[in-house]
Amino acid sequence: MTAALEAVERTALLTAALRAAETRRPDRLYADPYAEALAGDIGPGLLAEIRAATFPPHRERTVPSTPDYNAIRTRFFDDYLRRAARDPDTTQIVLAPAGMDCRARRFDWPGRVTWFEVDRPAVLAYKEERLKHLGEPRVAHRRVAVDLTAPDWESDLRAAGYDPGRPSTWLLEGLLYYIPEADAHRILERVAALCAPGSRIAADIVNRAALTLPGMRPLLEVFARWGCPWLFGTDEPEALFAGHGFAVRASQPGEEGAGFGRWPDPVVERRVTGVRRVFLVHGRRC
Ligand SMILES: C[S@@+](CC[C@H](N)C(=O)[O-])C[C@H]1O[C@@H](n2cnc3c(N)ncnc32)[C@H](O)[C@@H]1O
Repeated sequence: MTAALEAVERTALLTAALRAAETRRPDRLYADPYAEALAGDIGPGLLAEIRAATFPPHRERTVPSTPDYNAIRTRFFDDYLRRAARDPDTTQIVLAPAGMDCRARRFDWPGRVTWFEVDRPAVLAYKEERLKHLGEPRVAHRRVAVDLTAPDWESDLRAAGYDPGRPSTWLLEGLLYYIPEADAHRILERVAALCAPGSRIAADIVNRAALTLPGMRPLLEVFARWGCPWLFGTDEPEALFAGHGFAVRASQPGEEGAGFGRWPDPVVERRVTGVRRVFLVHGRRC
């Protein structure tokens, strides 16, 4: 079944392998008991390639520590979604893409919430198969098997019960760097059109230097070799989202509230150019 997954779809298994590895750590930032089953046979091999590129034995590390970043990102967005769910107006949570995310099972959610998992059909089919003996989500749960760059995925989301007239909470985690710039703008435009005022949005996104700096090459080469190169980044995530009707803040890993004691690199001020960055974006539809 995994052989049927395309390169960008297999990154969901990499993320699952990262979450399984984090779950095994005594100082873990979160636990995901489903991650190991979801990573399957493929995920650990992908993670081994990332580790080899990230921590070369005889050279200094120049790329971000993917395991630490992934731990921080997962915990940051765990907290973001759980905070959003405490708001009595929150009735719809959309993971776009969902990949092997198991927050619907890892946490309890209020009865008013419906949970939408959007991803490509092969990914959701793989996930369903792997989870079928492992219990049910702890929330009203809908799968929306679409490609976010294809025409009219909005109809599938609506058919699954999503109501654009009510506030929603969206998470675009681990997506935007794989998407060509024009398509990334279109996705944000389409998400904005589905978001009632006050809806929440979150995402992670790299900056432009992360796509070009020589020191990033070992990591970029792994993704390019797999067939899912990093394509899009921005130094102005606030402006990117503002252009689509969202008011957001962009936190850098290691900053207050986005470090959890795990970010191993200095946090470089935003006015400094020519350094790699990744942003954890979070805000609201205006
Ligand atoms: C790195 S994984 C992240 C998944 C999930 N958000 C998580 O954190 O576990 C990237 C996911 O993006 C999905 N993806 C990439 N391009 C997509 C597209 N055009 N439409 C739908 N999903 C897409 C892949 O299938 C994969 O599941």
